[in-house]
Amino acid sequence: PEAITVAELANRMAERVADVVKSLMQSGIMATQNQTIDADTAELIIEEFGHKVVRVSDSDVEDVIASVEDKDEDLQPRPPVITIMGHVDHGKTSLLDAIRQTSVTSGEAGGITQHIGAYQVTTKDGQVLSFLDTPGHAAFTSMRSRGAQVTDIVVLVVAADDAVMPQTVEAISHAKAAGVPMIVAINKVDKPSANPTKVRTDLLQHEVIVEEMSGEVQDVEVSAHTGQGLDQLLEAIALQAEILELKANPNRAAEGAVIEAQLDVGRGPVATVLVQKGTLKQGDIFVVGEQYGKVRALINDKGERVSEAGPSVPVEVLGLNGTPEAGDVLNVTATEAQAREIAEYRAHAAKEKRAAAGAATTLDQLLQKA
Ligand code: GTP
Ligand code: MG
Repeated sequence: PEAITVAELANRMAERVADVVKSLMQSGIMATQNQTIDADTAELIIEEFGHKVVRVSDSDVEDVIASVEDKDEDLQPRPPVITIMGHVDHGKTSLLDAIRQTSVTSGEAGGITQHIGAYQVTTKDGQVLSFLDTPGHAAFTSMRSRGAQVTDIVVLVVAADDAVMPQTVEAISHAKAAGVPMIVAINKVDKPSANPTKVRTDLLQHEVIVEEMSGEVQDVEVSAHTGQGLDQLLEAIALQAEILELKANPNRAAEGAVIEAQLDVGRGPVATVLVQKGTLKQGDIFVVGEQYGKVRALINDKGERVSEAGPSVPVEVLGLNGTPEAGDVLNVTATEAQAREIAEYRAHAAKEKRAAAGAATTLDQLLQKA
């Protein structure tokens, strides 16, 4: 429910706080300037002061950005989005790398993935797959959990020489919580110490029953180093994707999710966005979380400028007024005024939430001291 402090209400009406308190009192409500009153009460007071009520609420924001409802006949097949998850150093980046047949691992600082990479791969059969690589370090758990929200399929990488580890278990919970099907890639089978059977039995304890153990979760033995099993892994992904019958309407205002974002010295705020619905085009006006902007340029995973990006395509977006956060949703809007209003509304709501949380902490601290 919407709420506002007495002081904020007075401020927005450009009335004196004391007058608002008095008016509230006349309506039988005792409230000091820092207390909050609900939206209905605020509306009564606003009218009493002879002002017009303009309520911007979450549902108004939803109305603006969710006005396009896709009809079945508008839906077209789209590539699956596959997130690679697993314990640190189990070979997520190497595996994706082997799939892409490029070399990202060697170029990374310390070999640890510092961000969520997003790539598109075309298989030998001409099937397009969108992959998200996720950092394996414990500090990135929240980013990884967001990865599961944009993903259709999780590839759980488990090193055969290390078996199930804490972040393997975390990845399993994320996949299960998101209701996303999982494929187990048992990696590093080229190592003499590899024990794929231990991986399978370990997984049983976490209620992941792989096909080899007569379960339903596809499992594939792979080696990012020798390339063993990569074709089978891609086949397993293709099979899973087929079952999901993934579709989206490419002909509508775009909606997408921020995979990562940063302030680039030369280019300003840059966000990697996975388009989920519609087609994002150069010149589009959008709101993304608490930020807004106009698409100045779109850059694909190969570093090339593109004029548009359809469903399941990851692109870098330039032209933001500020840096959004990973997990924020991007929506194309009809006008810049709309985009700005929604962004400002969200920023304001977030600020009030933080203030409320801050007040609660202070109260907590006071109570602890007492
Ligand atoms: P984080 O991003 O830090 O979580 O790691 P990651 O899961 O992406 O692992 P990464 O691909 O960086 O690989 C970790 C180490 O394992 C590197 O030294 C790789 O060379 C090695 N490695 C990865 N796959 C294989 C494999 O199939 N066989 C062998 N022998 N080594 C592998
Ligand atoms: Mg990595």
